[in-house]
Amino acid sequence: PSTATRDDAGRLVVAGRDAASLAAEFGTPLYVVDEAEARARAARIKRAFDDAAASVGTTVTVYYAGKAFLSGAIVRWVTDEGLAVDVCTGGELAVALAAGADPARLGFHGNNKSIAEIERGVGAGVGAIVIDSEIEIERVADAAARAGRVQAVRLRVNSGVHASTHEFLATAHEDQKFGVSLDRAVELGTRIRSHPSLHFLGLHCHIGSQIFDSAGFAESAERLLAAHAELSRLAPVPELNLGGGFGIAYTSVDEPAPIEEIAAGIVRAVAIGCREHDVPVPKLAFEPGRSIIGPAGVTLYTVGTVKPVPIEGGVRHYVSVDGGMSDNARTALYGAEYSARLASRVSAAAPALVRVAGKHCESGDIVVDAEYLPGDVAPGDLLAVPATGAYCWSLASNYNHVPRPPVVAVREGVARVIVHGETEAGLLARDAGLTAPDAPPTVRLVEGNPA
Ligand code: LLP
Repeated sequence: PSTATRDDAGRLVVAGRDAASLAAEFGTPLYVVDEAEARARAARIKRAFDDAAASVGTTVTVYYAGKAFLSGAIVRWVTDEGLAVDVCTGGELAVALAAGADPARLGFHGNNKSIAEIERGVGAGVGAIVIDSEIEIERVADAAARAGRVQAVRLRVNSGVHASTHEFLATAHEDQKFGVSLDRAVELGTRIRSHPSLHFLGLHCHIGSQIFDSAGFAESAERLLAAHAELSRLAPVPELNLGGGFGIAYTSVDEPAPIEEIAAGIVRAVAIGCREHDVPVPKLAFEPGRSIIGPAGVTLYTVGTVKPVPIEGGVRHYVSVDGGMSDNARTALYGAEYSARLASRVSAAAPALVRVAGKHCESGDIVVDAEYLPGDVAPGDLLAVPATGAYCWSLASNYNHVPRPPVVAVREGVARVIVHGETEAGLLARDAGLTAPDAPPTVRLVEGNPA
């Protein structure tokens, strides 16, 4: 499950650069992204949905879900490949705009957008704001009216379908914070339409993440289409957005269906539902994040200590690396599974059961829970953890005052920093108790007020 391959000498290579030389040049921990792989995945997913949509006589917009990993470079890659961009905070909006994304091709999500964020979105001319609650209808309508604009909006609906890896659950109501319940979709859609400063695009639904097939999406589409059809009786509803969540292989046991199959399955379900409800097939929209950037990333770490710990029936080697939950929180947060490989050399040593641990002061600070690595893995060795392109940098923290690592993109053997790493000095500089211990208590660092 990786963008990293081995060359003839057995060295691990990412997009034409060997891992050891990347580590030597940029240090570890290091996030490495294979640009060609990210672009190819974006293009393939777009093509899969374009083809599926065309087969039922409609079109589709594929948004890259920036929460997975957002930076200026990636915005340019995905927009080059014909994708739109989905943001969910003012910060993500700022990155997308600064990177030159066409505002009309931005979608703006969030269950608690501030009035200021809504105003920024409206003012920038974002193509769609996703209304997540009843309260937001008036907030967005008022912001648009104040700006003298008509803002296109979607209504996020909770379909009662929740999917997460392999299986989906379908209930009448889901107990979670996003969206409005399906049984209010018609009422609230109608209310949106009553505002002259809003243009109702249609319903939106996101059923979950790391999903391997189309069944949950199909179930959700079927449920949404009843409300979509009812709203269509009053006036045409141009669009239906079914969110993101397409899964990737983190380890060799993960086998997501090919995206072409998933796209075809979802679009077929939509077309059948539309026929049943006697409405035209709307334009479609999707918001994949992980499936575009996840497999294109790999994290490099240097081994610091190795500690054999007796366990029932054998021994587990705790291999501790120079990063951990501050650069990849997913194992600690979700029990996510990753694999690891020895990247700096080839070893003929017999495999040993290893747990790759981080350097943080927390026993849950694990990067890879269980892996077999050559039994002679030793301090100074370089490890590569594949499939870390999504939700690793974006969930990174400074726990234990560890600076965030840089992100390096490699393309045809050429590496360049796309996000600078932090430094210890940089972290200290933010500490007002160190830099200005005698400042009067009213001094506060706010936006537009540089230190
Ligand atoms: N659209 C909406 C409205 C979403 O909430 C999300 C993800 C996506 C699209 C993109 O989903 P993707 O295709 O990337 O699965 N931190 C978690 C994942 C959180 C996903 C949140 N929403 C993780 O690391 O697994």
